[in-house]
Amino acid sequence: MPLFGGATCRPARILCCAAALVGLPLLLVVVLSENDPSSSNPDGSIWNVRRIVEWRPCRWWQTGTHLTALPATSNGYIRVDCYGGLNQMRRDFCDGIGIARLLNATLVLPKFEAAAYWNESSDFADVFDVDYFIEQTKDFIHVVRYLPEDILSGEPFRVDCSKRKGQFDYVEHVLPFLLKHRYISITPAMSQRRDRYPLYAKATLCQACYKALQLNQDLGSKGSKLLSLMPKPFLSLHLRFEPDMVAYSQCHYIGLSSASMDAIEGARGNRRPFTGDVARYWRERGKCPLMPNETAFILQSLAIPAHTPIYLAAGDGILELEGLTSIYSNVYTKSSLLSREDFAQMGGNTKAALDYYISINSDAYIATFFGNMDKMVAAMRAARGLHRTLFLSRRAFAVGVSKGLAGAELATAMWEAHREDYIMGRGSALPDCFCETKL
Ligand SMILES: *[C@@H]1O[C@H](CO)[C@@H](O)[C@H](O)[C@H]1NC(C)=O
Ligand SMILES: *[C@@H]1O[C@H](CO)[C@@H](O)[C@H](O)[C@H]1NC(C)=O
Ligand SMILES: *[C@@H]1O[C@H](CO)[C@@H](O)[C@H](O)[C@H]1NC(C)=O
Repeated sequence: MPLFGGATCRPARILCCAAALVGLPLLLVVVLSENDPSSSNPDGSIWNVRRIVEWRPCRWWQTGTHLTALPATSNGYIRVDCYGGLNQMRRDFCDGIGIARLLNATLVLPKFEAAAYWNESSDFADVFDVDYFIEQTKDFIHVVRYLPEDILSGEPFRVDCSKRKGQFDYVEHVLPFLLKHRYISITPAMSQRRDRYPLYAKATLCQACYKALQLNQDLGSKGSKLLSLMPKPFLSLHLRFEPDMVAYSQCHYIGLSSASMDAIEGARGNRRPFTGDVARYWRERGKCPLMPNETAFILQSLAIPAHTPIYLAAGDGILELEGLTSIYSNVYTKSSLLSREDFAQMGGNTKAALDYYISINSDAYIATFFGNMDKMVAAMRAARGLHRTLFLSRRAFAVGVSKGLAGAELATAMWEAHREDYIMGRGSALPDCFCETKL
């Protein structure tokens, strides 16, 4: 449910349809007018531009017409082995469920193995509600909590598909192992062919991923406590300007504080920043994380008022954060809202689950990056009818700057680029389970 009441928005919308048509002039007025341009015209923000495309969950999997009786006999048991951060694990689990159904297998609860980076050993049940998952998927796939006694003792035969590329076909390559060993574990390939899936397998993936995963009771109640503490309506901002991210990007930044430089050096390893033409080309391709002050600049260009409450959906390691907070002063994090006891025993993954929870419930979501979390959040928001979702364009920003644009001109270019994305609903959901709807 959107947190903005419909009634308060409606008169604004009429105003902004007009604004959308004239778009540019309005913005010039907005940006050029005062110090805090957006507050003088709160209805002119990007969210009030009328969209013409919206991604919605496709009817074919929501209505149940695709449902095929579950196979009378199972071809065996599949456990999905998931690695990395929470949202990467979740992505792989979702894919794995589709594969298990494709192979007429019985699904065993997945193995969640967080990378050492996350400093955690949380399992599926430490994050998600197992009973709810089983209940919500019961018409789609057989799921067991425990293995039958005859294979209980054995570890699964591991079939590693994660490195497979191209024309990889699970029926051809994985089914023989399943039939032979009866209990296998898989990590899905990045590039699989879902086009050949029968509809019941696709529907299983969609249902499991977008309807059946909710946080377990403990995390869910922490999440709703956190949500209740946020002033409403608010924007959830996923700002990735953290040492590992910056080091990994190999981008060169000038004007950073020495503390930031040290933190980046500490995370660098053997990734040297690019220099010269390569560095410029890399930046103009949109490869460089946005700094907090650049993020603030774009938010202002989108006429998002400076008093907007912002939830920072990120860890505590953001560098140069003053660049944002000096303009948007109403910024909250989970550690500023929850007490220390709430955090006891929480590792990186369960903390990430809270950011995820807030971000699928916030009035608006903006990401400075297009990572696993952002894709998952955008899709979940679309599944829940929340469409105020936007990915900031690092590319548009870098190209604008390289053309020598600054101030109001750069702001206008940012408005144009993001307005277009917002109108077309770009990047806001995963194509497999969502369909483009013309409004
Ligand atoms: C799965 O079962 C369906 C019938 O329920 C059948 O048409 C399909 O070929 C089976 N697929 C595999 C891989 O066994
Ligand atoms: C890892 O988590 C434990 C608590 O679970 C904590 O005591 C420790 O400091 C953490 N280590 C790092 C590197 O964050
Ligand atoms: C952001 O900060 C950097 C470093 O201080 C500075 O070089 C840059 O011009 C700033 N950008 C904006 C848009 O304020």
